[in-house]
Amino acid sequence: MGLMGFPVEHSLSPVMHNAAIAVSDLQYIYIPYSVLPDDIGPAIRSLIPLGIVGVNLTIPHKERVLPFLDEISLEASAIGAVNTVVNRHGMLTGHNTDGVGFRNALIEFDYQVSGKHAIVLGAGGAARSIVYVLAAECASVTVVNRSPERARELVETIHRVLPGAVLNWLSFEDVDKLREALIRSEVVVNTTSVGMYPHVDVDAPINLEIISSDSLVIDLIYNPVETRLLREARLRGAKTMNGLPMLVHQGAESFRIWTGCEPSISEMYHAVRSANFAIK
Ligand SMILES: NC(=O)c1ccc[n+]([C@@H]2O[C@H](COP(=O)([O-])OP(=O)(O)OC[C@H]3O[C@@H](n4cnc5c(N)ncnc54)[C@H](OP(=O)(O)O)[C@@H]3O)[C@@H](O)[C@H]2O)c1
Repeated sequence: MGLMGFPVEHSLSPVMHNAAIAVSDLQYIYIPYSVLPDDIGPAIRSLIPLGIVGVNLTIPHKERVLPFLDEISLEASAIGAVNTVVNRHGMLTGHNTDGVGFRNALIEFDYQVSGKHAIVLGAGGAARSIVYVLAAECASVTVVNRSPERARELVETIHRVLPGAVLNWLSFEDVDKLREALIRSEVVVNTTSVGMYPHVDVDAPINLEIISSDSLVIDLIYNPVETRLLREARLRGAKTMNGLPMLVHQGAESFRIWTGCEPSISEMYHAVRSANFAIK
C-alpha cells in the first residue's frame, strides 16, 4: 500500500500505517510515491499490474485522479475528491475517508455536533469533507474563506447533495457578519493552512475575542501541536482539538478499506506523535 502525492516527503502516513502493520498479522508495507501532477493517471492504473492493494492520495491528486477510477463512493463523489483508492481484483474504487476521520475524531472526543451552529474557516480540499459532515448534523454551517467565490462554490456543491442543510458563506472581510456568526457558533473548525509550521507566529485566521467558553475550536493543523488559534481558544476557556485525531482516524478508515482489518489506533497515535515531534 502507499501514498501518492507531490511532495510526499513530510507525510506522517507511512510511519502511521507501517506502525499499524507492524503490530498486525498482515504482510504489507506502506511506501510513499512521489508522483508528478500529470502522471497520476498511469501511476494509479499501475496498482493493478503491480498488485498494490491501495493508496492514499494527497495534494495535488485528490481531484485529478477521478477520471482514472472505475468506481467512486457516494461520499467521495459528493465531495468531488478522493483520498483513498482500493484495488479489488483489478477494479479501482475511490473513497474519501477524511469525513469519517473527522466524525470518529469527534466521537473519540465525546462531542456531539448535532443541532449546533458551526463555522468552517477555509474552503479548500479538507473543508469539503468537514462541511459535508457538519452540514448533515448541525443547525447551520457558515463557510468563511479568503476567496469568497470558493466558499460560495463549496456551499452550493454541498447544498446540492444535502438540500435540507442550512449553509452560508462569507469572506474574512465581512467583519460584521463574521462577528454575528461567531457569537452564535458553538463549533469553529480551521481548515486553512494559516498557522502551519514554519509560519507558526502569523496571526490566527480570526479573532476569538467573542468566542464563548462553551465552544469547541478545532484546527486541522497538527504541526505545531497547538496553533496560535488553538492557544487563544484555550486561553479563553474553550475546548480545543488539533489535527492529529482526524489524521489518525482517516488513516484507520483507509486501512480498514484496504485490509478488512481493524488497525491499532493506539499504535498509530504513538507513531504520529513521535514523528510529529521529530520533524520540528
Ligand atoms: N488533520 C488532517 O487529517 C488533515 C487532513 C487534510 C488537511 N489538513 C490540513 O488542512 C489544511 C488545508 O489543507 P487543504 O488540503 O484543504 O489545502 P487547500 O485545498 O490548499 O486549501 C487551503 C485553504 O487555506 C486557505 N488559505 C491559505 N492561505 C491563507 C491565508 N494566508 N489566509 C487565509 N486563508 C488562507 C485557502 O484560501 P483560498 O481559497 O482563498 O486560497 C484555502 O481555503 C492544511 O493545513 C492541511 O495540513 C489536515
